[in-house]
Amino acid sequence: MSAQVISIINMKGGVGKSTTAVSLCETLAIHHRRRVLLIDLDPQTNASIMAAGAERWGRLREEERTLDFYFEAYALNLKPKPFKSLIERGISDLKGKPDFAIAASAPEFRFVERDLIEQFVKKGYHIDAIQKWINERFTNGLKSISSLYDFVVVDCPPGISLFAEAALMAADAILVPTIPDYVSRLGLIAFRRRALRLIEDRRGGQARLMVLATKVDESFSLHRSELEVMADGLGDSLFKVRIPQLVDIARAAEWSETVRTFDQKYGAATPVVTALGEEFLGKLEMGLAA
Ligand SMILES: Nc1ncnc2c1ncn2[C@@H]1O[C@H](COP(=O)(O)OP(=O)(O)OP(=O)(O)O)[C@@H](O)[C@H]1O
Ligand SMILES: [Mg+2]
Repeated sequence: MSAQVISIINMKGGVGKSTTAVSLCETLAIHHRRRVLLIDLDPQTNASIMAAGAERWGRLREEERTLDFYFEAYALNLKPKPFKSLIERGISDLKGKPDFAIAASAPEFRFVERDLIEQFVKKGYHIDAIQKWINERFTNGLKSISSLYDFVVVDCPPGISLFAEAALMAADAILVPTIPDYVSRLGLIAFRRRALRLIEDRRGGQARLMVLATKVDESFSLHRSELEVMADGLGDSLFKVRIPQLVDIARAAEWSETVRTFDQKYGAATPVVTALGEEFLGKLEMGLAA
């Protein structure tokens, strides 16, 4: 069996993509004993540091095992290391040895993308050819490790980037965390239309797109009314679980030097993160997302 690839994307920044990526991986690994790989495609490296801690991430950088080195080798016409060699297993500060691994990012990753584009442009390539090349490298990397995991969760950078688009193309399911406010909804509508069209045009067939309301403040009437509009428009592709704005969620993201149980780590957010994992698995099994 090969892994299902879940790309966590929203063009908007700060909506909880990285937090959702890490917490989803942790509940799948701990509560459902799934083998999970997190791929951090964001040069901001938030998910890498949340999931592996700054010290271990620093070691991965020193060992040249971050994603920038994998793609940079191509840009320099060097033989790239196997994608598998980037993967660091046994991460997380959770007790209970979750089967959780990471392919980490580094700040240099943003320069690699730029260098790749420059090199291809000099050779006269069109942007579509560059995108195709990146998609293929990324998909080949995924294929080489796919049998080792149940889920590969890809945390994407905000905005539009060639790597985020590669993650979109490689995804079996796309999870879009979004804050329930008016501006975010407009962005979501635009993104959803474009994403589904791109996938249909370039890959043929459909991918599931799931929307998760994040940083929800139910005492805020604007959030409540936006959630209703989202539920009407999105139907079953909107998660019933809503992630509240909770200090315990932000706190869980801070690395702990001592291992902690899931409940210790997620505190008041434990039930909601657990429910997220359950609904996620249910959605994939039932093929409900649009
Ligand atoms: N449900 C929540 N309750 C409280 N704080 C949250 C919640 N979700 C995320 N945060 C906090 O909001 C900030 C942004 O979250 P996160 O980094 O997950 O967003 P992002 O969408 O990945 O951002 P970026 O677009 O920069 O990658 C972080 O400080 C995080 O701790
Ligand atoms: Mg992020």
